[in-house]
Amino acid sequence: MEIKVSQDVKETEVLVINKFENEMTSQELANKYAVEKDGFEGKFGQTYLMHTLGQSSADKILIIGFGKKEEFDSNKMREAVAKAVKKLHQIKAKKAVFDFDITCDYGKSAAIGALMADYAFDKYKSEKAHHLDEITFTKFSQEEIIEGIVFGDAMKFARDLANTPAQIATPAKLAEIAQNIEGLETKVFEKQDIEKMGMGAFLAVGQGSVNPPKFIHMKYTGKNPKKKIALIGKGICFDSGGLDIKPASSMLTMKDDMSGAACVLGVMQALAKLQPDAEVHGIIAACENMPSGSSYKPGDILTAKNGKTIEVDNTDAEGRLTLADALCYACELGVDEVIDIATLTGACMVALGTVAAGVMGNDDEMIAEVIRTAKDSGETYWQLPMFKEYFNSMKSDIADMKNTGSRYGGASAAGLFLQEFVKDVKWTHIDIAGTAFLEKPQKEFIAGATGAGVRTLLNYVK
Ligand code: BES
Ligand code: MN
Ligand code: ZN
Repeated sequence: MEIKVSQDVKETEVLVINKFENEMTSQELANKYAVEKDGFEGKFGQTYLMHTLGQSSADKILIIGFGKKEEFDSNKMREAVAKAVKKLHQIKAKKAVFDFDITCDYGKSAAIGALMADYAFDKYKSEKAHHLDEITFTKFSQEEIIEGIVFGDAMKFARDLANTPAQIATPAKLAEIAQNIEGLETKVFEKQDIEKMGMGAFLAVGQGSVNPPKFIHMKYTGKNPKKKIALIGKGICFDSGGLDIKPASSMLTMKDDMSGAACVLGVMQALAKLQPDAEVHGIIAACENMPSGSSYKPGDILTAKNGKTIEVDNTDAEGRLTLADALCYACELGVDEVIDIATLTGACMVALGTVAAGVMGNDDEMIAEVIRTAKDSGETYWQLPMFKEYFNSMKSDIADMKNTGSRYGGASAAGLFLQEFVKDVKWTHIDIAGTAFLEKPQKEFIAGATGAGVRTLLNYVK
């Protein structure tokens, strides 16, 4: 789908306009039929489609309810445009002109909403989904739209990758994708390098698979970097649970266990286009968690990069082991801040559902800033506690800690575990177990990968 900006193109297949509650629309025809005759109110998200039968230069007019004017904001704009695009799919339209009677700078949100709603993962289907060829916005600036397109494309990039089956999206594939992003300096560490770096926790998780692990480090350097930040994405290309194997129903969606990595890759390729004044490191410890004769075992004792020892209590708590070594690595880069994003715990999903991501960390100001950025970006993040008591059940008799403890408070326990590997930086952990992959459509999303974290992290870095 191409997104254009042009001041006056009314001749089109579908003209999309808006209606605020208790106000008229910009089109006489729409006012006459939809509002006066049919009583269309324009409550937020309501739609009204009318054929113009030659009475307008557009074949059809689609009215989108914008709700109460005083409640309208950029998030509503994104949702409204997404609604409109879905409606355009239903009527199999190919081209549309969006002519909204508003003055604010909502172009970025509008473009993001359009791209989110036009998304389909139909690469492997003979019958492709319906896509729009072209939409044109009349009111927004070219600049805003271009930024929105970069954001929308980054989400698509991440969603495609997380939707791709594990047979294709292997650790080697993630490394190849990282190396092919232009405008970044990228290093890929092979198994022997990872051994030399002393990443005993990460290596243990990957040792049961025939596909070798890859440790990926991308670096973006802007012109006058004002801040230095590292983004770590959980990159478990498939999580079978390992020897503590998952039941079939829980394993079904575990190709998505690299959604954090997909997010970081999507963000890094967008940064190369947006060129913000920042230094950003993108880090992924990519591997598969598989059961085999060479798998790590319950009871094994692993030594992470910082020398701390971990008794394996459950091989299905693998994400925190790979993140432990990635966090140690990131903390040695001399950055001011580290953010990790991970499909880490089923417990987070139980606590917050598919609505919100769980956020923890060691700096309340940074956490608040991340949560605020998420809200402005259209994502919902919720802070979870890090009471030190959650660590008690992870105490080990024979090592510094175990990798799991009590079933209760599991998201917080995982956060406390990660903190053991964070040193001298501000750190925020984002658990997207519930939000990264949807089994049913939700708001602007179809079922499948959502590109969780992409918008928020991009806005945060900028
Ligand atoms: N990848 C899973 C977490 C997950 C669950 C993500 C559901 C998305 C949806 C993680 O590696 C895992 O298996 N966690 C275990 C930890 C437990 C063994 C302490 C879990 O949550 O059950
Ligand atoms: Mn697991
Ligand atoms: Zn996992």
